[in-house]
Amino acid sequence: MADLSLRRDDAIVILTGAGISRESGLHTFRDVGGVWSQVKLEDVATPEGYARDPQQVQDFYNARRAQLADPTINPNAAHLALAALEAAWAGPVFIVTQNVDDLHERAGSRAVLHMHGELRRVRCTACGDNREIDGTITLADVCPNCGSIGTRRPDVVWFGEMPYGMDRIYGALAECALFLSIGTSGTVYPAAGFVAEARSHGAFCLELNLEPSQGATMFHQALTGPATELVPNLVAKLLGRG
Ligand code: APR
Repeated sequence: MADLSLRRDDAIVILTGAGISRESGLHTFRDVGGVWSQVKLEDVATPEGYARDPQQVQDFYNARRAQLADPTINPNAAHLALAALEAAWAGPVFIVTQNVDDLHERAGSRAVLHMHGELRRVRCTACGDNREIDGTITLADVCPNCGSIGTRRPDVVWFGEMPYGMDRIYGALAECALFLSIGTSGTVYPAAGFVAEARSHGAFCLELNLEPSQGATMFHQALTGPATELVPNLVAKLLGRG
């Protein structure tokens, strides 16, 4: 395990990807049997795919949103450990997640930024109205703000669209003493470039992943294993309990 000589008031930035939710029962994207082996990302995660067949896109996200209501899908030990770290650490603990699920929040984390949006939010393309949603989005939906019909889309960032919170993220990467990357393949930018940004500002960069990511060599240390083992162990060490 890394020799983390941190002060308790140091800032920590944590990037998470689909791998942290894998042991909660949600599929990753690029592993064997992953989401992109079941449906083409060009069809359901691009503006062009939405323009071509909006019903297919709504169906895809409605199904993934419905999964979040499944009582068997819950935060796992990794999500819970990060929430415990945020509660006990004197400095800021900022989670930047690529995930659109709500498992970090359900685990108790409060400083969470969904750079790729959220399944449980819907956005109106006519007026920009952006609100929580639990059920399905249909092409017949009427925007409760502007009254437009069929303009409500999942508030999920598609390929070719600008991720959320980039200024806030780069500001945090410039200030943190520890940059953790958990459960991401390091294949999608700008998230895959965060380690270089953090490292250039002097952060200690640590990767926790089931297998080395594409960017593993950019980290000071890369630990391999399931998130539900690695993350609680790291948090215990950080809090002086391990
Ligand atoms: N514990 C830790 N890591 C795991 C686990 C686990 N139990 N299971 C899988 N992983 C790792 C895999 O080894 C892989 O490196 O999680 C990573 C998941 O990679 P991807 O499926 O590519 O998911 P992610 O990196 O989050 O994708 C980034 O791509 O399609 C877009 O918008 C989508 O946010 C997503 C982005």
